[in-house]
Amino acid sequence: MTVRKAFFLGAQPESPLTGLPQSRYLQSSMTHSNLHSPVVKSLGVIVLAAGQGKRMKSSLPKVLHSIAGEPFLHLILLRLRETCPSSPVAIVVGHGREAVESSVRADPRFADMALTFVVQPEQLGTGHAVRCAMDSDWGKQFTGSSKAILVLPGDLPLIRREMLAELIQPLGRTSALRMLTTDLVEPTGYGRVIRRGTRGGVLKIVEEKDASARERLVREVATSIYCFAAGFLKSGLSKLRPTNAQNEYYLTDLVAMASRSKKGIEVLKWEQPEDLRGINDPWEWSEAGRILNRRIVREWARSGVYFRDPETVWIDSSVKFAEGVYVEPGVLFRGKTEVGSGAKIGPQCVLENATIGEGAALKAGSVIVDSVVGDQSQVGPYAHLRPGSEVGPQSKIGNFVELKKSRIGRKTSIAHLSYVGDAEVGSEVNIGCGFVTCNYDGQKKHKTIIEDRAFVGSDCQVVAPVTIGQGAYVASGSTVTENVEADALAIARSRQINKPGYARVIRGEMPSKEK
Ligand code: UD1
Ligand code: CA
Repeated sequence: MTVRKAFFLGAQPESPLTGLPQSRYLQSSMTHSNLHSPVVKSLGVIVLAAGQGKRMKSSLPKVLHSIAGEPFLHLILLRLRETCPSSPVAIVVGHGREAVESSVRADPRFADMALTFVVQPEQLGTGHAVRCAMDSDWGKQFTGSSKAILVLPGDLPLIRREMLAELIQPLGRTSALRMLTTDLVEPTGYGRVIRRGTRGGVLKIVEEKDASARERLVREVATSIYCFAAGFLKSGLSKLRPTNAQNEYYLTDLVAMASRSKKGIEVLKWEQPEDLRGINDPWEWSEAGRILNRRIVREWARSGVYFRDPETVWIDSSVKFAEGVYVEPGVLFRGKTEVGSGAKIGPQCVLENATIGEGAALKAGSVIVDSVVGDQSQVGPYAHLRPGSEVGPQSKIGNFVELKKSRIGRKTSIAHLSYVGDAEVGSEVNIGCGFVTCNYDGQKKHKTIIEDRAFVGSDCQVVAPVTIGQGAYVASGSTVTENVEADALAIARSRQINKPGYARVIRGEMPSKEK
């Protein structure tokens, strides 16, 4: 294939997700050298993923909803893998737990992480979920004073590596926990951080449903991300009571508990609230998707990809671009798509697991799925390359042409209104307008072979299996049912008869002699 890996911009496929430019990352308090420090090794991570996500109104478990082509849970695990790759992680599952588990297990990127699934049989609240993990065999390894537990909800997929790196720094000796907060202009739905006075220490977190009118005015919110001293966490969890508006065991009550017993509460306030968007309903899903997409598009634009209208282009995190690619409005790039340098992608194209060669041009509305377009080739407008198609270099696949599981050689032209399925088409072949491979007999698919330099006139069908030899001609309007040998001319249509004056007979203007 002509698209070379080395040509792709951005060293890491996931780099757009890290958001910050490399220089800023290197300045952050966490560097690679302390990734495997003993501090991190004594860290356990609990990811809460048992909730149904009622507000999502979907049968898919909430944490398996995707943005930028990645389920929320996978995005979170990727960030953990970057920050604390060797820490034991417990994923608390309940609703749709088989689906959640198999989605994670099927992703090879997580194969080297220490992942344990812990079942929360009934969803009795975030505190109960954490307790399920801590009371399990997994939780037993975290006894002793220096152990810390990072807790993450499964519905905050926009979290940053830098954020986690700060959160897992060693806790102060007298601290019970470190909590991540942020200021929101629109805090509805979030737990509010209640402080002693306006700037004083944290007293408690009050959930929206339990908050007084005055408490609801507070804009500093709890994010559900905490780093707990393991000892405090264990004893605190056993003291939780579901005495609140939702009759749930709230993890957030541990904050009030720490405050009452005069234990240290460290607060990390994150300046970019965008990174802490929780997703609870389809609207929040849209917004989070837009935020992540903007990060990805911006990163590629900074590396040399031209987007005429960045707001309307959607790029999965797994997509790769070489430099000098031009992208018109409304294009979707999905899955493992790779776009070679200088390629031009026209408006409203959809690319899914597509490989686009250098200098290739996709014109408006083309859909390319699991297929390859060679260097300098042109496709569209409104062409459809279905799975398993491969177009060689400098070829032309024109408007309203559908290819399926077909290989097309170099400098071949299929320029108008055709269906080519299960075919091998050679190089320098010309196929006229309105060509159809009749590849299906009702039971099986059959193969069509069209060899190099063959010329197929307009409005032909070939009934497969059939081969058209090198340099052969097929006359326009033919239905080819038998092989055509090299350099032959095939005419497979009935001879024309002209009946002079007969049109008038049809119109009733003249009696027919034959009558
Ligand atoms: C939670 C916090 C709130 C915070 C908000 C931030 C509590 C009580 N509230 O509210 O302070 O502002 O997150 O996004 O903690 N889960 C389980 N088992 C359960 C319940 C929940 O695993 O029994 C999981 C969910 O799948 C989800 C996460 O915990 O991933 C958070 O639960 P959710 O119901 O979304 O909490 P919020 O109402 O958003
Ligand atoms: Ca939530």
